[in-house]
Amino acid sequence: MHIQEYISLKPYTTFGIEATARYFVEVDSLESLRQVLAEPAFAATEKLILGGGSNVLLTKDFDGLVIRMAITGISVSAEDELYTYVRAGAGVVWHELVLESLEKGLSGLENLSLIPGSVGASPMQNIGAYGVEIKDVFHSLEAIDRQTGELRIFSHQECQFGYRESVFKHELKNQFVIVAVTFKLSKTPHYQISYGDIQKTLEARGVTELSSKAISEAVIEIRRSKLPDPAELGNAGSFFKNPEIPAGQYEALKSRFPNIPGYLTTPGQIKVPAGWLIEQAGWKGYREGSVGVHAKQALVLVNYGQGTGPEIKALSEKVQASVLEKYGIQLSAEVNFI
Ligand code: FAD
Ligand code: EPU
Repeated sequence: MHIQEYISLKPYTTFGIEATARYFVEVDSLESLRQVLAEPAFAATEKLILGGGSNVLLTKDFDGLVIRMAITGISVSAEDELYTYVRAGAGVVWHELVLESLEKGLSGLENLSLIPGSVGASPMQNIGAYGVEIKDVFHSLEAIDRQTGELRIFSHQECQFGYRESVFKHELKNQFVIVAVTFKLSKTPHYQISYGDIQKTLEARGVTELSSKAISEAVIEIRRSKLPDPAELGNAGSFFKNPEIPAGQYEALKSRFPNIPGYLTTPGQIKVPAGWLIEQAGWKGYREGSVGVHAKQALVLVNYGQGTGPEIKALSEKVQASVLEKYGIQLSAEVNFI
């Protein structure tokens, strides 16, 4: 157990924001994680579990222990006629798992290509993109109880997945460390190409025979065209969730703003793209010092280099206030504030 002190977290989150961790440790096995959690010297110390840091905003120094997940390993845990069950350690880079599944000829993760971050964080907010969420391919996960060190297996149902939601953001917040996730991937193709620009991009790329690899490449191309690469421009993807509003409220808005997009999700609820609301409120491409709203995707707040957590937070609050004033819709953050 190699505990470091006063470590800069700038390289550990994709927003690239300067903040110091009082203590920092990387864990690469179940045993080392248990050892850190059971260490009496840190019993009363606040702990932050970090994967790739692509969905957090550091608003101040962290006066506790950052535990960075580095448990790796991808293996086939079971197989039947239709499915292969692939188990990956929490510290596996998400996109590496996607690429490995494609190499194995398995279908299910292709639409989720190039999402930054780690496997261990993927169930936290039930990551999703282009018509697929991990709940569609999730089998189970293994997690360590932060208090007792015991290993618990969570089934699909127990995770209570929803749009960018799971039980780990609510009832079980800060209680478990996810150490491995098992996905149920299809041996036969089940393609999902109805969302947004996928078909258009496949056509433009001259794809005549559909494959998981072709879909993955199309998704990568779309993502690269809109979303900033954190290596070049600090960001955490969508800063807010797309709000879901009652159909009646949507109809009333539509009479005032005829172009407002909306998609029926659960009966009686309409999901409105927050990016549209933010763009129409005049924020797209806005810059204030070292922070701003991305010019190609208004749902993404960016750090031009020297931006601070409080500056990003203040900008997010201004965006929220103006969307609330113009549309009567309260945006809620997708990013986790630390
Ligand atoms: P972190 O940021 O390290 O952590 C996120 C949260 O999970 C924190 O609260 C942390 O404490 C907790 N956590 C992390 N690991 C564990 C663990 N092992 N056990 C318990 N708790 C843990 N998300 C999408 O859903 N769809 C997208 O299309 C998408 N696109 C993105 C594009 C860009 C350019 C960026 C920067 C982000 C994007 N995101 C997207 C958000 C982000 O990639 C996901 O939320 C991802 O799952 C975060 O993984 P991470 O390892 O970086 O998590
Ligand atoms: N739009 C605008 N202006 C913008 C951005 C978007 O008008 O600047 C409108 C357009 O109408 C567009 C619609 O919003 O058709 C949807 O935009 P896009 O396809 O880019 O997706 P999104 O709703 O902004 C969501 C996820 C992304 C995910 C994509 C693709 C959320 C909060 N975000 O974004 O996830 O990659 O769909 O499925 O649900 C993330 O969670 O970090 C993330 C990037």
